[in-house]
Amino acid sequence: MLRTVARQAVLRSRGGEVARRAMSSFVVSGSNRTSRARGSVAGAPLVMSRGLKEISFGGTTETVYERADWPREKLLEYFKNDTIALIGYGSQGYGQGLNLRDNGLKVIIGVRKDGASWKAALEDGWVPGETLFDVMEAVQKGSIVMNLLSDAAQSETWPKLRPLLTKGKTLYFSHGFSPVFKDLTKVEPPKDIDVILVAPKGSGRTVRTLFKEGRGINSSYAVWNDVTGKAHEKAQALAVAVGSGYVYQTTFEKEVNSDLYGERGCLMGGIHGMFLAQYEVLRENGHSPSEAFNETVEEATQSLYPLIGKYGMDYMYDACSTTARRGALDWYPIFKKALKPVFQDLYESTKNGSETKRSLEFNSQPDYREKLEAELQTIRNMEIWKVGKEVRKLRPENN
Ligand SMILES: NC(=O)c1ccc[n+]([C@@H]2O[C@H](COP(=O)([O-])OP(=O)(O)OC[C@H]3O[C@@H](n4cnc5c(N)ncnc54)[C@H](OP(=O)(O)O)[C@@H]3O)[C@@H](O)[C@H]2O)c1
Repeated sequence: MLRTVARQAVLRSRGGEVARRAMSSFVVSGSNRTSRARGSVAGAPLVMSRGLKEISFGGTTETVYERADWPREKLLEYFKNDTIALIGYGSQGYGQGLNLRDNGLKVIIGVRKDGASWKAALEDGWVPGETLFDVMEAVQKGSIVMNLLSDAAQSETWPKLRPLLTKGKTLYFSHGFSPVFKDLTKVEPPKDIDVILVAPKGSGRTVRTLFKEGRGINSSYAVWNDVTGKAHEKAQALAVAVGSGYVYQTTFEKEVNSDLYGERGCLMGGIHGMFLAQYEVLRENGHSPSEAFNETVEEATQSLYPLIGKYGMDYMYDACSTTARRGALDWYPIFKKALKPVFQDLYESTKNGSETKRSLEFNSQPDYREKLEAELQTIRNMEIWKVGKEVRKLRPENN
């Protein structure tokens, strides 16, 4: 077990230091600034600005946009003549749609009648014939078409949807998947309309929860076609309207490659594989399920990973015992060396379209939901995740 208690006094002061360091690297050199001072670091005035900002991220300068750049009144004015037709009401449709509605924009939902999404949309207060329509009917009514159907469904519906994307409309995606892999998906956006992307870096459920808490998800944005000359600002504005806190620029290609890679790697597949490997070795060496689970998952998610999220990896190291720190410092390069070739293979597999092909083939099967459920059931039945269920129940707050 890692010892985190003894160093609390040190950490409290270091927490302040870390926060200050983060602020000091937030160097602003953008245009459209209103020069609003929020604080200072060690005597140096810290000037924060609103509007386009160039920030040095560890030495590489990038431009970012924030929610404060698009206050509600500005959004309402900017989209006053638009009907936003959001098609698909899965996780993203739900999160982005409700946030747009709460922001006061004119938004309608398009889903297939009497499907699971239709029922979910009804429960969330979308009204048939007023704000809830069949997919193609919504597309006809919208000036901005947000395509949040599943990636496989985007491909399937494209032949019907494409003729409805007439001049003057804007097409929006939350993933570069369909246009980037157009040879596989057959989704080739029209050249005479603006085509943009806003990709929240999290599940649609989180998009909604953070918005309701007054916080915001981080998102990337990209432009495929800029016919009007306003595609960039439209994407930035929509990013804020759907609930983003800050937005960074990317391309459709980079978005899809990084996204497919990330979710297969550290975000989901990689971390799941690592948990399983560590747990199994502990069990094979005679450790109890409680011990194996606590040393693999519970301590990670409840104690250490939140520290990384809040203050950074160096802070997490600093929060642990000298013994733990020494071991982790010795072993992380070994893990990196072993895993890097796997990540290299994974990146290649996303870039060359193999991951897209697999996803399209699997998710286009009529019985894909049943097949997916069977795989998820296998996970549910693994000892490690059954143990997790019991361990979570034992958390005092769950008693
Ligand atoms: N989920 C995430 O964390 C996340 C994050 C960032 C970006 N994205 C992107 O956001 C987009 C939407 O993803 P999602 O996860 O929200 O949704 P999803 O679960 O992948 O898709 C669900 C929606 O697609 C509809 N659909 C499926 N097959 C259809 C068909 N043949 N015809 C008409 N509608 C069909 C479903 O309707 P029914 O209920 O009627 O089946 C449902 O409304 C994708 O491009 C995804 O890559 C997702």
